[in-house]
Amino acid sequence: MKILVTGGLGFIGSNFIRYFLRRYPRGAVVNLDKQTYSGNPANLRDLAEERRYRWVKADIADADAVDKCMRGTDAVVHFAAESHVDRSILDAAPFLQTNVIGTQVLLDAALRHEVGRFVHVSTDEVYGSVAKGHSTEKDPLLPNSPYAASKAASDLLVRSYIVTHKLPAVVTRASNNFGPYQYPEKAMPLLITNLLDDIPFPLYGDGLNVRDWLYVLDHARAIDVVLRHGQVGEIYNVGGSFSCNNRELVRRIRTLMGKPESLIKRVPDRPGHDRRYALDCSKLRRLGWRPETDFRRALADTIGWYRTHESWWRPLKRKLGFKTYYKKQYAGRS
Ligand code: NAD
Ligand code: TYD
Repeated sequence: MKILVTGGLGFIGSNFIRYFLRRYPRGAVVNLDKQTYSGNPANLRDLAEERRYRWVKADIADADAVDKCMRGTDAVVHFAAESHVDRSILDAAPFLQTNVIGTQVLLDAALRHEVGRFVHVSTDEVYGSVAKGHSTEKDPLLPNSPYAASKAASDLLVRSYIVTHKLPAVVTRASNNFGPYQYPEKAMPLLITNLLDDIPFPLYGDGLNVRDWLYVLDHARAIDVVLRHGQVGEIYNVGGSFSCNNRELVRRIRTLMGKPESLIKRVPDRPGHDRRYALDCSKLRRLGWRPETDFRRALADTIGWYRTHESWWRPLKRKLGFKTYYKKQYAGRS
């Protein structure tokens, strides 16, 4: 099977590509990735000599480049996106351009090339904040951040291509991923790498916002299951095995790392900060998937990975782009 993966230089895409090529010795991957600030060729350096893997540096909104990549493709797994909520609050424009227009360009090319399967990778954030219970795939979309709104828009666009053009697409909606190769602006890698350097971690608001935590390799397996067994036109929630509020998460990580509470600094809340996400994943479980990773072990492994991979994350945090973002995002908050 030859698949086109978009956004494969990012956190989840790179973990998925490595998983896919290991699992399928006859599988081949073309990775279409523009290499934005979060796209990092180092995430797949181990595949440099792999003949079943090729990276094409291009924008998913570039119709000509997409058309070339789509030729001879059996399936598309679409990860490419602007993915960070805080950046979408600072500037929503790239989110609309990539997440909505880019998705439309891909959908049109998939139709033209009669691709057999299109997996659109989305997020639990499209449901908005859920005070009680768990979101099911039938729940209304009530996104609260520009990021979530752009993902909801792309989900609806995919739906429209399924209904109108009979595109054989499926949508997955995952919770907060964690694991190796996550760009250190997201809460977990920012917390771990700041603590390694004894730099304070800015905890938003009262820290009682609840997130569901999904190990990235459980997510990769889920996407593979949906790719092979998901029913066309369906949506599948993908949640992890552990959920907690941010205070609890920070306490666990701090304790595992042996760091003092004084390194956690309460800062003013993120505007529109969703209080709680929670997913009902029974539909995907019926396809035979469930999160297999033990959260405690995966958390310890993840901390261990950032500890032993300073040469991966230090250059990212040293870059001017990261420093400028960090200043803009956190200045005046402490
Ligand atoms: P990421 O920011 O780490 O990676 C995004 C990748 O997309 C980067 O390699 C980047 O270079 C590429 N990209 C961005 N714009 C592009 C464009 N216009 N053309 C080509 N490539 C482009 O993101 P991630 O955390 O790996 O998320 C991947 C997908 O999973 C996204 O669609 C996101 O919405 C979704 N998702 C993420 C999470 C999470 O917790 N991180 C949870 C649920 C869903
Ligand atoms: P994040 O990793 O940005 O994911 P999302 O907002 O998409 O869930 O944040 C996870 C949680 O951590 C979220 O409730 C916001 C909070 N958070 C902080 O408290 N401080 C931070 O510096 C960041 C980036 C996030």
